[in-house]
Amino acid sequence: ASTDTNHIVWHDASVSRTERNRKNGHESFVLWFTGLSGSGKSTLANAVSRKLFEDNKQTYVLDGDNVRHGLNQDLGFSPDARQENIRRIGEVSKLFVDSGQIVSTAFISPYKEDREQVRSLLADDEFIEIHVDCSLSICEDRDPKGLYAKARSGEISSFTGISAPYEEPDEPEVVVNTEDQSIEEAVHHIVGVLQQKGLV
Ligand code: PPS
Repeated sequence: ASTDTNHIVWHDASVSRTERNRKNGHESFVLWFTGLSGSGKSTLANAVSRKLFEDNKQTYVLDGDNVRHGLNQDLGFSPDARQENIRRIGEVSKLFVDSGQIVSTAFISPYKEDREQVRSLLADDEFIEIHVDCSLSICEDRDPKGLYAKARSGEISSFTGISAPYEEPDEPEVVVNTEDQSIEEAVHHIVGVLQQKGLV
């Protein structure tokens, strides 16, 4: 098969995003949850998605379980592999936005530069960065998958927070702290920000 991409031409879709958004009655955008393993990204992304779904919005969640087992099963956890992981998720998110979805992503996405690269793919109000803030010690106490223990013993290398970096966002659109806030409070806060921005 040819790998020559010079002759690929972009086709405009027969149904435009504007038409989809008008029919759905809401904008489409990305809620980009970032934070340490065990901070609650996935739980929150799913809870926000459920709330929006019950309010008749089009929503979808992309997270490690449905992406690293399929699309990104060839990628590990080196800085380059994480960059490629986030790059692909960014591109997939952009397609979901084009399809009219409010897409919630739950990936550690530890590098600022990689998150900013995704932001640059989207318009201003299409990328809402949500820092799921929770101290390392609490995440490690929770250790829902037993991975922190394995990282401490050296069984897992390059583990975020232990032997690999996590770069906190400087100016995220939203910060939730899962040490002091319940999931319900955090969902309420996030949906409130979306309402203030006129997105839902
Ligand atoms: S990243 O950094 O954004 O590419 O990571 P992500 O795709 O979100 O995958 C994180 C989940 O993979 C498991 N895992 C690890 N995390 C961090 N570092 C290392 N070395 C590692 N190895 C496996 C871990 O279960 C993460 O899940 P969450 O849901 O974040 O706890």
